[in-house]
Amino acid sequence: MEHHLSQRVQRIKPSATLALTARAKALAAEGKAVIALTAGEPEFETPMAIREFTIAELKKGGQVSRYTPAAGLIELRRAVAAKFKRDNALTYAPEQCIVSCGAKHSIFNALAALVEDGDEVLIPAPYWVSYPEMCAFLGAKPVILDTSRTGMVLTPEALRAAITPRTRVLLVNTPGNPTGAVWSEQQQRALAHALEGTGVYVLSDEIYEKLCYDGKHFSFAACSQDAFERTVTINGGAKAFAMTGWRVGYAAGPRPVIDAMIALQSHSTSNPATVSQMATIKALEKDPAELPEWRACYLRRRDAFLAALNALPGVTCAKPGGAFYVFPDIRGWLGKRHGETLLNTDTDVCDALLAKSLVATVPGCEFGAPGFLRISYALSDRDVAEAIKRIREFAAALR
Ligand SMILES: Cc1ncc(COP(=O)(O)O)c(C=O)c1O
Repeated sequence: MEHHLSQRVQRIKPSATLALTARAKALAAEGKAVIALTAGEPEFETPMAIREFTIAELKKGGQVSRYTPAAGLIELRRAVAAKFKRDNALTYAPEQCIVSCGAKHSIFNALAALVEDGDEVLIPAPYWVSYPEMCAFLGAKPVILDTSRTGMVLTPEALRAAITPRTRVLLVNTPGNPTGAVWSEQQQRALAHALEGTGVYVLSDEIYEKLCYDGKHFSFAACSQDAFERTVTINGGAKAFAMTGWRVGYAAGPRPVIDAMIALQSHSTSNPATVSQMATIKALEKDPAELPEWRACYLRRRDAFLAALNALPGVTCAKPGGAFYVFPDIRGWLGKRHGETLLNTDTDVCDALLAKSLVATVPGCEFGAPGFLRISYALSDRDVAEAIKRIREFAAALR
């Protein structure tokens, strides 16, 4: 039977990172010793204090079994506002905050509230896979701004040159996925200055905020009053609190934009799971006690990958200041062979690494940066060491 699918949904493809993670898991289920460097997910457990608080709430019953307002529990919206004040020097009223089913959902809601058919959304590349797909679904035009020649940082000149009368939104993601690049306060202020008077909104995706290795994270909305009034700031529990499975993200911004996001949410998902909201209230009280130890682990693993990758002929890898990814440039491998297999593209390299060495990575082309690989180092020291050994052996076999 032929099925008629909407034009809208036919414009998008499934998330490549999720698909590759699933492929790695399927190989592992067949008994293969795959190491998946694909997932953007901490391997740590959600801190015990958060889990215990949530268990107590579950035992109490009552609210935990019920719907909450579509925008989330007011206690959680207050906790979100307090977090932005404490960590980011941003003063939002709880009514300017919305809680959604993950940061991904917050970003989708914000884009849906802001863009019309044909509007342009500026997306610095390399970018997180979901940004262009969300735009495509919503009928907006993703305008990709390559930053690979400017240290993975968008310059004010490149920004100014890209703005047209149709430009509605600029996406900012620092620390960034897939590069781990951190945009400094000064660099963000220069961008905010370039946007003044343009009417362009900013979606500032700060999900990796707590994973900054040199210095402190800076929020785009803190650049100026003008930036504050035009920015939707997005964050969540996934990466900072090892809470990917709880599915809670949140956003704060201008009241009319947040109200529109709430209206949309009230007709689509309603509130995120009440139990997860309760867990997030606990999480947002303060940074997890485990965070310094987690950061130290990530740093050790980042440095292990950096040293190993930069020692390989044909590979260079910039040092990322945050998140848990390295993004090596493997263009020096293209055109070579591994056994009989010709490696013409980053996708060929990924396929061969998985097939021959059982190491799963994501090709840079999925992030708008062909010739690179994304490696997540959010996994154990043992797996990192084994992955490095296999990548070295793979590289040594290239001819
Ligand atoms: C840049 C970026 N934004 C948002 C998300 C989504 O986070 P959540 O799990 O809260 O939906 C991710 C997850 O990988 C991410 O890398």
